Amino acid sequence: MLKIIEEHISAISKKKFANQEDAEKFRVKFLGKKGVLSSLFLEFKTLDSKEKKTIGAALNELKTAAEDALKSAPRNIKKNKNEGLEDLSRPGYNSHPGSRHPISIVKNEIIEIFENLGFTSEEGPEMEDDWHNFSALNFPEEHPARDMQDTFFLTRDQKWALRTHTSSVQVRTMEAQTPPIRIIAPGRVFRNEAISSRSHCVFHQVEGLYIDSRVSFADMKQTLSSFSKAFFGEATQIRLRPSYFPFTEPSAEMDIWWGLENEVDHRMTKGTGWLEIMGCGMVDPNVLDSCGIDSQKYSGFAFGMGIERIAMQRFQIPDIRAFYENDIRFLKNFTGA
Ligand code: DAH
Repeated sequence: MLKIIEEHISAISKKKFANQEDAEKFRVKFLGKKGVLSSLFLEFKTLDSKEKKTIGAALNELKTAAEDALKSAPRNIKKNKNEGLEDLSRPGYNSHPGSRHPISIVKNEIIEIFENLGFTSEEGPEMEDDWHNFSALNFPEEHPARDMQDTFFLTRDQKWALRTHTSSVQVRTMEAQTPPIRIIAPGRVFRNEAISSRSHCVFHQVEGLYIDSRVSFADMKQTLSSFSKAFFGEATQIRLRPSYFPFTEPSAEMDIWWGLENEVDHRMTKGTGWLEIMGCGMVDPNVLDSCGIDSQKYSGFAFGMGIERIAMQRFQIPDIRAFYENDIRFLKNFTGA
């Protein structure tokens, strides 16, 4: 028996634990209820008193060796009953509140500028009928102008669609209010377009409409110029180019100067240095009449701008797709109301 004990002691002295599990196995093997030591102690009881003296000392030595070996084992051999519970005394975790999306930041800023100019904000539905999105805006049926706006139709008969522009809110407002009307309508619009760095199938616009007696093209130019200076800074250059929209006559497109220094500038501006940010014009008398406003008595101007284009200019973002990918590393860069 002494020999067995001595063998154990020498084995234990060389013992190294690979991990907690290994140490736990060792503990059970030697110190467990049915372990080596208990059975040796049982056997010890049967010995005579002379043997007990030497064997007892050896057994104690084995026990101490086993206990000492465990002390050097990886920690937490016995499962702590609090394991997995929160340490209530630890310092708090940092919270990471979200930030506003760049499109919302720009939208809110545009709304604020127009509110200062006396405009109020209106909303309309994203699912529109043919009348509000097209017909009332002087798009005759089968007219090629409808193809300018690649429409996502919702019904086979093409009576319902996702609105292709916020101009539909002009119609709803004119139908519901009487002049003077001075509104803007921010919102999301949809077009069945190929996605590229410059265009996306979902984007945002802010529509504007001003109707009163004797509103002129000069009023429009003044309003858009005030807006551009307030938004982009006093030194901002704008230009109006003649254009065509079924619902305005005359119609124009407004560009702001982006710059033409590097490859990105060329790509963004199709090599011109100018970035188109809105369409505008004098509301066509047909549209006023369709919406129940006397075109003999009233005139007005309207405009519609793309929020993404403006945000790209403001934050120098060369690819429109960045707005929809919701990459946290991108979104983190923006702070604002
Ligand atoms: N709805 C036009 C578009 O989506 C933009 C536009 C042009 C709006 C002229 C207007 C306007 O109100 O007068 O491209």
